[in-house]
Amino acid sequence: MRVLVVGGGGREHALIWKLAGSGEVEKIFCAPGNAGIASLAECVPIGVDEITRLRDFAREQGVGLTVVGPEAPLVEGIADLFREENMLIFGPGSSGARLEGSKVWAKCVMEKYGIPSAPFAVFNNARAAGDYLDKVAYPVVVKADGLAAGKGVVVADNQSAAHEAVQEIMVKKVFGRAGAQIVVEECLQGEEISLFAVTDGNTFFMLPSAQDHKAANEGDRGPNTGGMGAYSPTGILTLELLEQAKRNIFTPVIQGLREEGIDYRGVLYAGCMLTAEGLKVLEFNARFGDPEAQVILPRLSSPLLPLLLHAAQGNLAALEPPRWSAEAAVCVVMASGGYPGKYETGKVIHGLKEAQAEKAVVFHAGTARRDNMLVSNGGRVLGITAWDTDLKEAQKKAYLLAEKIRFEGAYYRRDIGRRALSR
Ligand code: AMP
Ligand code: GLY
Repeated sequence: MRVLVVGGGGREHALIWKLAGSGEVEKIFCAPGNAGIASLAECVPIGVDEITRLRDFAREQGVGLTVVGPEAPLVEGIADLFREENMLIFGPGSSGARLEGSKVWAKCVMEKYGIPSAPFAVFNNARAAGDYLDKVAYPVVVKADGLAAGKGVVVADNQSAAHEAVQEIMVKKVFGRAGAQIVVEECLQGEEISLFAVTDGNTFFMLPSAQDHKAANEGDRGPNTGGMGAYSPTGILTLELLEQAKRNIFTPVIQGLREEGIDYRGVLYAGCMLTAEGLKVLEFNARFGDPEAQVILPRLSSPLLPLLLHAAQGNLAALEPPRWSAEAAVCVVMASGGYPGKYETGKVIHGLKEAQAEKAVVFHAGTARRDNMLVSNGGRVLGITAWDTDLKEAQKKAYLLAEKIRFEGAYYRRDIGRRALSR
């Protein structure tokens, strides 16, 4: 089968790396891909938001399954376009992707179907939001409704920080229309955990849990990023908590979506807080996490293609549950100096040839080839991933490899996985 993967980051490299190892995959295309992906797939210069061109390309090339990495094309309706022409695609249609695309709608779904989450209020004008912020207890969390590239959430410790967030989002409109509405919710305390299920809208299979490191700097300090590293398993997700996640989160949300008339086929990602009262949902996403996918997929010991294909076809119940290795995986993200703020690209990357080991892959997140040299081409540049019998060994290996790679301005966190190891 010919497969098209949409996206060009570390998550897509990990998906393609796993797909490439499956005998039934005859050829992989990736739009737009990156320099690392180019060693496994044919990269085609179509942007992730050019959804009609992507559909036309898949049709012309006889692609049997399209797999969508990022959220933006899902929210834009790429899966609806494909399904109108009976072309198989892994990812929800725009009505399902709204769980990620509208935080207001997601909170309403959670409330309606009894899914544990922080108490909240919704506002569509700054004055009403401001009045409310004068009365609530702090800290609170202020969230822009729509997609804001991971920057639309502010944890406000006090009244003035909350008012400032409302000013930025609703008055200065820094996220444009995404900030026309906001959610203000209680700030939950606990440890964060990313939970994933692959679903065809009826049946679902849980994937192993992962923990992301969102802050730019060690000790979880500094600005929020897309994720500076991850590890799996998390060590905090006991069997009892996993059952709780299935019973209180995944089962009701998938059933709720069905009751809303939504046929959700793809990944359902619940970003959760493990609070004193159990798991509570911070947000839903409609796709694999990045970098979480880079630590989850190496642990998949059954082939990836049938899992994605059965979900896309709506017959997941006919498939054996996926199998996972007991090994632990760590991904250390090497980023451009300045990320998540302003950064330069085009820096020559050295040392990748030396950075090789068994049970390790350097996934490319933002790279390109220029004058036959590998150069940085994004904020997150590489995802140095290693897996082994336990987290400590995996972590040691990932950092050994990281030390061999150099480019001007490169930085990475030295404490990925430390929290789990110190437990
Ligand atoms: P979201 O995009 O909703 O996941 O928010 C991004 C980050 O903000 C999360 O990963 C959390 O670290 C934090 N966050 C969001 N909602 C809450 C909440 N209710 N309480 C505490 N932290 C939150
Ligand atoms: N790593 C967080 C995300 O993919 O949203």
